[in-house]
Amino acid sequence: MLELRVPGDKSIAHRHLIGSGLARGRSMLRGLPPSADVMATLRALRELGLEAIGGAPGPVEVKGPASWNDAPAPIHCANSGTTARLLAGLLAGLGRSAELDGDESLRRRPMDRVVYPLQAMGARLRYVGSRGRLPILVEPRASGSLRSLRYRPRVSSAQVKSALLLAAVTSRTELEIRDRGEPRDHTERLLKHMGAPLSFSTGPEGQWMHFDPSGWDGKLRPLDTLVPGDVSSAAFLIAGAVLGGHSVRIRNVGLNPTRTGFLEILNAMGASVGSVATGEAAGEPVGDVEALPGTLGPFRFDGTVVPRLIDEIPILAVLAARAEGTSEIRGAGELRHKESDRLALLAANLGALGVECEELEDGLRIRGTRAVLRGGVRTGGDHRLAMAFGVLSRLPGCRVGIDAPECVAVSFPGFWEALDRVLPKES
Ligand code: S3P
Repeated sequence: MLELRVPGDKSIAHRHLIGSGLARGRSMLRGLPPSADVMATLRALRELGLEAIGGAPGPVEVKGPASWNDAPAPIHCANSGTTARLLAGLLAGLGRSAELDGDESLRRRPMDRVVYPLQAMGARLRYVGSRGRLPILVEPRASGSLRSLRYRPRVSSAQVKSALLLAAVTSRTELEIRDRGEPRDHTERLLKHMGAPLSFSTGPEGQWMHFDPSGWDGKLRPLDTLVPGDVSSAAFLIAGAVLGGHSVRIRNVGLNPTRTGFLEILNAMGASVGSVATGEAAGEPVGDVEALPGTLGPFRFDGTVVPRLIDEIPILAVLAARAEGTSEIRGAGELRHKESDRLALLAANLGALGVECEELEDGLRIRGTRAVLRGGVRTGGDHRLAMAFGVLSRLPGCRVGIDAPECVAVSFPGFWEALDRVLPKES
């Protein structure tokens, strides 16, 4: 059994960096991934006044609370939707001003989902160029609170919830959100761990969250944490193992239930995959995951589970291509607004390699095959497509070329070396 570790969780890392800048005192953050997305957040926060010593993968020491300033020049969020959307909320709450921009892919992604509710709270945001897209300008706000908000987001999105919560906590404004789905709840867990007066619950009607600042002194405790390994990065190595690679045990992975839908689908496919809880880090459950090779049946899921495996759909599509039978993904229209239109590119690439794949408006229907797959893959610079097809490229007899292998650094620098260990290249 191969013992592996994966880089720290990207979603949690963004939030620890932001949280440490809001805390009273010195925070010590270990295990931040040196991924391009997280580095975009660290760079942006430094431009806004964060004092941070060190850099990932080494420890980062943050002196909080930061003396936040307006950004003198546009902040470049690179490829990172989480950076752009969470910073929009943070700036709105702090009343600071900055222009937020991103790369070509991020400039195509929708921003209304955070801009509208922030405006409803009284924040001043406006589009600099095209409506609904970056760049956006968050304008300064004179002192005084934002307006309280009760909100039911149209799309179930952790970035939306987190942007609103950061605006609410930094301006001490009441906020209630009811979300039909179950998007990742890292921001809620972290801020509660740091001392914010937050209540939340999950039930058959989705998630409920309430921030009530009455009687709160506004103090957040500093962090001394090790960011757990990223279960979304681990997913590619787990898939490599179940598709015939080495058996793996991946140590110290985040096992937040809003992120583990992938493991449940693997179990439903008949894969030998299991996890053992080992502890907690800043309110997040952590554990080890084991995966063994075996045969796989098809799966079928809809929008009820999608938020809990949203980033794992590319690798699930690859698993479906090698499973016995026809798999179906529904309720996943949000995939068209990720780093690429993932439904369109998954269908086009699987089809080009010889897999029967039907593109649906909100999903994919994929017929598994044992045939040898050959051809080139167009990733559109999307890291998760590069890694998903990277796993496929290592299966016996498959000859698959990836057009932009370097884009994996957006979330998982060192991915190709890790994959070499689980699924070595055929000689
Ligand atoms: C993220 C939330 C998800 C996810 C993204 C990271 C986060 O996006 O797909 O990779 O860190 O909050 P949505 O909020 O759009 O669902």
